[in-house]
Amino acid sequence: MHGIILKTLKDYIVEQYDTETWADVQAQAGREGEMYVAVTTYDEEVTVELLDAALDVTDTSMKAFMYDWGEWIIEPIIDIYGSAYVEPHWDGLDLLSQIEAIHTQLRQRRMGEMTPPVLRIDEIDDRTLKIVYGSQRQWCQWIPGLIEGVGDYYDEAYRYKEHTCMLEGDEQCTFSVQRVQNPEAAGQVGD
Ligand code: HEM
Repeated sequence: MHGIILKTLKDYIVEQYDTETWADVQAQAGREGEMYVAVTTYDEEVTVELLDAALDVTDTSMKAFMYDWGEWIIEPIIDIYGSAYVEPHWDGLDLLSQIEAIHTQLRQRRMGEMTPPVLRIDEIDDRTLKIVYGSQRQWCQWIPGLIEGVGDYYDEAYRYKEHTCMLEGDEQCTFSVQRVQNPEAAGQVGD
């Protein structure tokens, strides 16, 4: 997996917990002292081992961890990639509608070194999107936090719902996301 994901995993754990917690996570994963940089791709097992260790050390469920990390990661990822892939005139819904286009550009430029998920985005109406996710990584529990992170970044509120889920045996995960004016109507529906 792309180093940006591992680098931001470390930054997230250091910021939300502390450097000792990150050291414990690396030790538990058998990866003491390893450095992760955004210009390299790492074996998939590195991510899996660090993530498993992070859940264990922080005593957090996958769902809760992925939500928080997903919400947190949007700002640093836009800081790093924004100038190349995010148009300044976009709002948050525009960014969400372009995530597969962004991932595709990343895939093409890196010549297959990284494997951002194949996401399909359908525009249902001018404030509603459907997101279809089918990556073998099955990181669908990241998506609610990522949606919230985009909302935080752009000061927009979304109401969203997961309709099908690979973790429950469906072939793909599908989410609907609707931008709402009233923040009280925002958040995940049917959870
Ligand atoms: C500027 C915005 C974004 C950039 C530059 C970006 C870039 C990336 C990169 C580099 C990866 C790692 C790919 C790999 O090594 O395989 C990734 C993974 C992923 N991204 Fe994005 N991303 C962005 C926004 C989003 C948003 C808003 C969502 C969903 C709402 C999203 C969903 C995912 C998911 C689910 C993965 C996990 C990988 C998998 O399941 O295969 N991304 N992204």
